[in-house]
Amino acid sequence: MTTALEKGNSVRAVSSNQPGLHQKLEATVRKHLQSHFQKPLTPHSKEAFKQARQWLQLLDRPFILDSFCGTGESTHWLATQHPGHAVIGVDKSAVRLTRHQFPHRDNYLLLRSDTDDFWRLLVEAGIRPDKHCIFYPNPWPKSEHLKRRCHGSPLFPSLLALGGVLELRTNWLIYAEEFCTALGVANINAQVTEFSANPPVTAFERKYSEAGQSLWRLHCELPSTPPAPL
Ligand SMILES: C[S@@+](CC[C@H](N)C(=O)[O-])C[C@H]1O[C@@H](n2cnc3c(N)ncnc32)[C@H](O)[C@@H]1O
Repeated sequence: MTTALEKGNSVRAVSSNQPGLHQKLEATVRKHLQSHFQKPLTPHSKEAFKQARQWLQLLDRPFILDSFCGTGESTHWLATQHPGHAVIGVDKSAVRLTRHQFPHRDNYLLLRSDTDDFWRLLVEAGIRPDKHCIFYPNPWPKSEHLKRRCHGSPLFPSLLALGGVLELRTNWLIYAEEFCTALGVANINAQVTEFSANPPVTAFERKYSEAGQSLWRLHCELPSTPPAPL
């Protein structure tokens, strides 16, 4: 197989002005755990959520959420691995979602929505995934963009409230370590390990693997009631 590197598309490793964990990480997470995020919901996310709810009611199966699913390759893979589950892939990019090219299966659905809205709507409706996959979220590596990372965002409490087994994958170790530290602030234990993607299950995973980059996986079980912050 011709790799991305052989094709001359060298894939750069994440470069950041942060040498280690962000200095304001713990204070930022603590502030978000004590506040309520009130950004108005967008009409298209409300519509996507309505569709998700109806589909989940129809299937009546346990649910897996694939956030930031891109082209939905991982959503298809999860649906194949878990035929008894209903799998929903969510991405805000209509362009990425229209690039989905996999044989149809009845147990997955791709939706265009912003996770900022979708996670809150799920929590409000009491719909909890058994498993929540966050594969290669945008790393936002500039130090000034901490609040755009999942764990530095005001949405972090909604992510925790969703519960389930959480799996994060990233090619930036600092991202995984910060996420782990943020969970620690919320009194939740997680593990970060290096892994080989064999086979890769997303477009970005394939790209990074072929470029020989290290891949990191964070795994934890989110409690059904989030514990008090430390
Ligand atoms: C680096 S790509 C990874 C895509 C896919 N998981 C993969 O590994 O190939 C990050 C994805 O997150 C999506 N995204 C970023 N912010 C989002 C948000 N707030 N809500 C939903 N999707 C978002 C982007 O559209 C993009 O498809």
